[in-house]
Amino acid sequence: MDGRRKRPIIVVDGPAGTGKSTVCSLFAERAGYCCLDTGALYRTVAWLAREREVSLDDEDRLSLLCGDILVVVDEAAGRMRIFADGEEMDRRIRTDETGMAASRVSRLPGVRRALLPLQREAGAAGGIIAEGRDMGTVVFPDADIKIFLDADPSERAKRRYLELTERGEDAQYDDVLKDMSFRDEQDMTRSIAPLKPSGDAIVLDTTRMTREEVVQSVMEIVRSKTAVSHGSSAL
Ligand code: DC
Repeated sequence: MDGRRKRPIIVVDGPAGTGKSTVCSLFAERAGYCCLDTGALYRTVAWLAREREVSLDDEDRLSLLCGDILVVVDEAAGRMRIFADGEEMDRRIRTDETGMAASRVSRLPGVRRALLPLQREAGAAGGIIAEGRDMGTVVFPDADIKIFLDADPSERAKRRYLELTERGEDAQYDDVLKDMSFRDEQDMTRSIAPLKPSGDAIVLDTTRMTREEVVQSVMEIVRSKTAVSHGSSAL
């Protein structure tokens, strides 16, 4: 572990619908970590772009918008909070439309560059579990533990469909699958920081696992890794 950090950095990457957000927030709650949901930053850029009528292809203006985003690490709540235009980003950025727009802006090098220091600063003290697409490869390449969650596309679309319908949204399974496949392809083939497991990541296929089983596996991985490197567990 980096000598300036007192507590570990854990990263979890993977495509949409693998349960990263739920698993990371449950882990954070149980282990006393802070959860960094970095997809929310790209979603915020997309939200700001719509509010201010900036084109999703205007790299210069989108990069400037990143300067208006504030990240607050709320240790008591165990998560990072994002503010833009004086408003806290909440459910408004959670729609599939915003997810698709976030994927589009995330292809732009200027936007990725502008969001990098926000993510690194939020994680600097350690004691965080950061989730996204490039946590292990770009943002925290020296993270203590790297996990990559994967699952079959049909299972991921099913989970996402259930999540949307449980929230009362009008969704069709086939549309969810189509949109998710499009977004995965865009995230995996972009030229900068594409979605892929870091060479030193532990890959977990969650297709046949319950959410609780995934959380338990992550806790087990952290326990075994931190026990090996420090002689005692960080949990
Ligand atoms: O995890 P999410 O669905 O909230 O992410 C929305 C989009 O943001 C995703 O399709 C790609 C982009 N993203 C990224 O490029 N890098 C990250 N670390 C996190 C998200």
